[in-house]
Amino acid sequence: MKIVVIQGPNLNMLGVREQNIYGPMKLEQIHAQMKDVAEQNGVEIEFFQSNLEGEIVDKIQECYGEAQGIIINPAAYTHTSIAIRDAISAVAIPTIEVHISNIHRREEFRKVNMIAAVCASSVVGFGPFGYHLAMIGMLQIMSEVKAVQDAQRAAQPQA
Ligand code: DQA
Repeated sequence: MKIVVIQGPNLNMLGVREQNIYGPMKLEQIHAQMKDVAEQNGVEIEFFQSNLEGEIVDKIQECYGEAQGIIINPAAYTHTSIAIRDAISAVAIPTIEVHISNIHRREEFRKVNMIAAVCASSVVGFGPFGYHLAMIGMLQIMSEVKAVQDAQRAAQPQA
């Protein structure tokens, strides 16, 4: 079982950029915590960050047949990218969207969200802790999907 974590533009600047909004934690620290949770639960995890929309689309497509869960913070592309939305929809892998800040309480343009409707769930406004919540949520979704698949397999007539 594998989770791919995809981080959009400027998230490589966490710990430096607008600390009053995003806090002091660096992306590497957030990822180290997620890796611990993955290891504790026997799940493989991969991290990817890009400032480029097309690279994010490519990464989502690469997840097809490889990953059982995607955790994504598309950052500014949340508000603009039909391409990222279509990629999530195309691979049909359970996806959780994370936003460190509460995008609903900020500028009007951040209330436009291209991504949420193709995600299983969104975690918004919990700061970096939101990534931990997304991990817990994704582990739950993956175990539910596996239980359904196991039941379907068990119900199939033996050859
Ligand atoms: C963000 C919110 C976006 O509006 C913004 O462009 C980001 C980060 C968040 O995590 O709160 O870069 O996705």
